[in-house]
Amino acid sequence: MKRFLTGIQPSGRLHIGNYFGAIKQMLDLQESTAPFIFIANYHALTSLKDPNRLKDLSLNAAIDFLSLGIDAQKSTFWLQSDVKEVLELYWILSQFTPMGLLERAHSFKDKTAKGLSATHGLFSYPVLMAADILLFNAQIVPVGKDQIQHVEIARDIAQKFNNSLGDILVLPEFQVQDAKLIVGTDGAKMSKSYGNTIDIFASNQELEKSCKKITTDSTPMNEPKDPYTCNIYAIAKLFLNESDLATLRDRYASAQEGYGHFKLYLKDVIWDYFAPFRQKREYYASHTHEVEEILALGAKKARDAIANSYTQIQDAMGLR
Ligand code: ADP
Ligand code: TRP
Repeated sequence: MKRFLTGIQPSGRLHIGNYFGAIKQMLDLQESTAPFIFIANYHALTSLKDPNRLKDLSLNAAIDFLSLGIDAQKSTFWLQSDVKEVLELYWILSQFTPMGLLERAHSFKDKTAKGLSATHGLFSYPVLMAADILLFNAQIVPVGKDQIQHVEIARDIAQKFNNSLGDILVLPEFQVQDAKLIVGTDGAKMSKSYGNTIDIFASNQELEKSCKKITTDSTPMNEPKDPYTCNIYAIAKLFLNESDLATLRDRYASAQEGYGHFKLYLKDVIWDYFAPFRQKREYYASHTHEVEEILALGAKKARDAIANSYTQIQDAMGLR
């Protein structure tokens, strides 16, 4: 079986674009590939310097992902900072990383353009990501489009290392989830930076507020409406089966209801869809010691998995 590995930045509230665009694929993967999945709290340091907030975000990311279906029996699930060997490899790999390789990285340019300070940590972020991948001999790295270049950088660094020390590191490949674009309440791509999200774990009231924000045309109540150009319908499609969608289309055609009715219906649909996840979330949020135990166990599994490659790398460098 090929080894799959991916990291998740703990970046706050998850929305349905994250769910249908990325998380669902990760869960599907879990059924067939026993993936390695970790919360990238070291990476989060590049943008976050508030200790309480980082702790809180990391714990909440773990709670979110466990509630949504990451299963610590099927996956190896841990907190990045619990496997410190990755920092040693980061330094080792730095010796095989040409400056030019990092200078070409888009994310550094994008993030500094957005106002993040141009620190060495931000600049060398791809080397840490390479260490994450290479320490585990990962073959396939599922990522969003914005992270493809980082996996290519990891591959380049591995190649340079192997050229100099022998065939030790596995050359990873990226796998882009073929993400369908989920639209937000304004019809543009749903994104937390656009303020157009519908959050998975929103309260009922918040959910209603988000659904009411969905933009529509101004067809009056007593005229038939076109579901295929409607943002409410586009979002409802993610949740409903074909028969429920057909019923909804009939309601659009009936000229008896306004968009307000469809928005409230959508709110109920989303609320019900995530109900089981919400229950699990409430459970984990009030049993955080269990979450910590799951992560500790995951870290142990992760350390077992790297034992060989770690000693091999140390040997190759003369560090043991
Ligand atoms: P955001 O744009 O809200 O900041 P992130 O960049 O944190 O979201 O995205 C995390 C993951 O969710 C990525 O893999 C990304 O491809 C996926 N994702 C985010 N928004 C959408 C969307 N609107 N449609 C499909 N996938 C999305
Ligand atoms: N940089 C990735 C992101 O922002 C997270 C990440 C860190 C990662 N290390 C990784 C992803 C290793 C895949 C493999 O989304």
